[in-house]
Amino acid sequence: MNCNIAVIKGDGIGPEVVTQAMKILDAVGEKYGHTFNYEQLLMGGCSIDVHGVPLTDEAVARAKASDAVLLGSIGGNTSTSPWYKLPPEKRPEAGLLKIRKELGLFANLRPAYLYEQLKAACPLKEEIANKGFDMMIMRELTGGLYFGSRKTEEIDGVMTAVDTLTYNENEIRRIAIKGFDIAMKRRKKVTSVDKANVLDSSRLWRKIVEEVAKDYPEVTYEHMLVDNCAMQLVKDPAQFDVVLTENMFGDILSDEASMITGSIGMLASASLNETKFGMYEPSGGSAPDIAGQNKANPIATILSAAMMLRYTFDLDKEADAIEHAVKQVLIEGYRTCDIVSEGTTLVACDEMGDLIKQRI
Ligand code: IPM
Ligand code: MG
Repeated sequence: MNCNIAVIKGDGIGPEVVTQAMKILDAVGEKYGHTFNYEQLLMGGCSIDVHGVPLTDEAVARAKASDAVLLGSIGGNTSTSPWYKLPPEKRPEAGLLKIRKELGLFANLRPAYLYEQLKAACPLKEEIANKGFDMMIMRELTGGLYFGSRKTEEIDGVMTAVDTLTYNENEIRRIAIKGFDIAMKRRKKVTSVDKANVLDSSRLWRKIVEEVAKDYPEVTYEHMLVDNCAMQLVKDPAQFDVVLTENMFGDILSDEASMITGSIGMLASASLNETKFGMYEPSGGSAPDIAGQNKANPIATILSAAMMLRYTFDLDKEADAIEHAVKQVLIEGYRTCDIVSEGTTLVACDEMGDLIKQRI
């Protein structure tokens, strides 16, 4: 197969971790007879530095013309980087929101799985970690607070800021359908998360999820308030299979879910539209504090590349090969600094990439 991938290395640790993922893809290509063609694009702070904007229309067009996008991370230190003195629409994050919207990537899948070997890195009590967990956070990605109108103004001498949270029934229905479809391939349980005791948008969310659920009689579903969900994630994460939620709640809950897997450096993600097209990126950020030091954990990005093979290219065997290689390296005790524990071997970002590559 010939696969055309737009590569956005981005800022911070992005270039380091994406380089490792490309190395793994090339190893897969060699073993299974596929060609991965890469086109590098700029987005985020690095694009601001060159073009004055976080994402050019030209880059969007090239991303659209590719089969899939592999993304590292964008953004810098929000208190010290000059990028944060710019108006909001010129900041690195605006590039990420623009590409999500322009490519119609409304479904964000973030799998959070506790590897047996990483139980020591899990911050939860042993009796909870021992039960393990395996959940898929299904986050709506192109609506809600992130894309509603916003402004800051002075009203009667008082500075006032407004952000708007809007969802229409179609936006809710399409993400709910994706959530139930994924649940059918997993343990057939959906937990839909909202704040229906307060928000209108959540009450509509609940109503539409209930309608969609009727088409999936085999799937058990429940509603959970977001504050309770935040608590249940640390109390009993094993209860979750698919967690279906809106944009902002999904942003917050997925960071929480990633932390209990041991490190945010373990959490892959896929952002999909209605077609096979997707953008694949680690859920974590650009980690400017460790950028350029060869310390970052490339596993989330490598697992995101595996998701790309599975969801965009239907290369399940090849995706399995990457996931097995990651598991094997963990079984053999190799760890980057974010997941290192007593009795394991500390390795650098590129060494981790090499070790995984050798096991493809
Ligand atoms: C994420 C990130 C982004 C988000 C930021 C960088 C805008 O936190 O992908 O979770 O909030 O969606
Ligand atoms: Mg986030």
